[in-house]
Amino acid sequence: MKKKYLVIGNPIDHSLSPQLHNYWIKKNNINAIYEKQKLSIGDLKGLISKIKTKEINGANITVPFKKEVIDFLDELTSEAQSSQSVNTIYLNNNKTIGHNTDIIGFELAIKDVKYDLVGKKILIIGAGGVVASIIVALKKMKVSQIILCNRTKAKAEKLKNLFKDLSIINWGETPNFDMAINATSVGLKNKEEINLEFLKVQKGKFFYDLIYNPKKTNFLRNAKKTGNEIENGKKMFIYQAAAAFKIWHGVEPKIDEETNNILD
Ligand code: ATR
Repeated sequence: MKKKYLVIGNPIDHSLSPQLHNYWIKKNNINAIYEKQKLSIGDLKGLISKIKTKEINGANITVPFKKEVIDFLDELTSEAQSSQSVNTIYLNNNKTIGHNTDIIGFELAIKDVKYDLVGKKILIIGAGGVVASIIVALKKMKVSQIILCNRTKAKAEKLKNLFKDLSIINWGETPNFDMAINATSVGLKNKEEINLEFLKVQKGKFFYDLIYNPKKTNFLRNAKKTGNEIENGKKMFIYQAAAAFKIWHGVEPKIDEETNNILD
């Protein structure tokens, strides 16, 4: 019987997960389909029951439910536990398991560009849904310090409950850093720009944007212009999807030219 997988979120229209997963499903001759569905928070419980009864065989969770879904799951993997964030659900011994592949996605993306994070000072701008996963990955890769600023400071302070050694600075304060990560949604629309002056004068640093569509946000465009290395979030997105695919289908999907083109 055809297996069914879903990505759920709200909004969900922009998600490219179906294209990517269905491409790998076809490539590997798997009898399955991957669809997207817009849900509201009240639908989460019903979704998880459908995974338990195998009506749905697995799901990816995206903004804004990565944390909320935890309450409805039987167990969490250590990755999901440490980040309090679930982006992949599967069934194991009739138990619904919440897992997080954003962490490995970010880790592999950074390894790909051969940037050595050991001992580095990292500035994260933003405190959205995926930031906890980024922090877990950065710690695994042995950075020396993680500084975080968010327009709404209270949201940044909340992350400190989970990560005690996080340094929170005020929006607009000028920190020292080796790598800056844009984890805000600013830049999803082409002309938007993060309203932080100090970003415009950096040199010789590494700028990473979690956004991959558009390929080059103003955050990256400006960083490149002033002499910094840059990278967008495309590889992270591909690697998190590949890790979920491996869990569900037991096959390591090939990341080839065509995979890259799907997201362009
Ligand atoms: P969620 O918070 O639901 O996970 P997200 O898109 O992952 O959603 O996160 C949005 C992030 O972009 C937040 O850090 C948000 O800052 P606030 O907490 O202050 O809202 C940030 N953001 C969005 N628009 C912004 C803007 N114009 N300037 C600065 N930060 C912005």
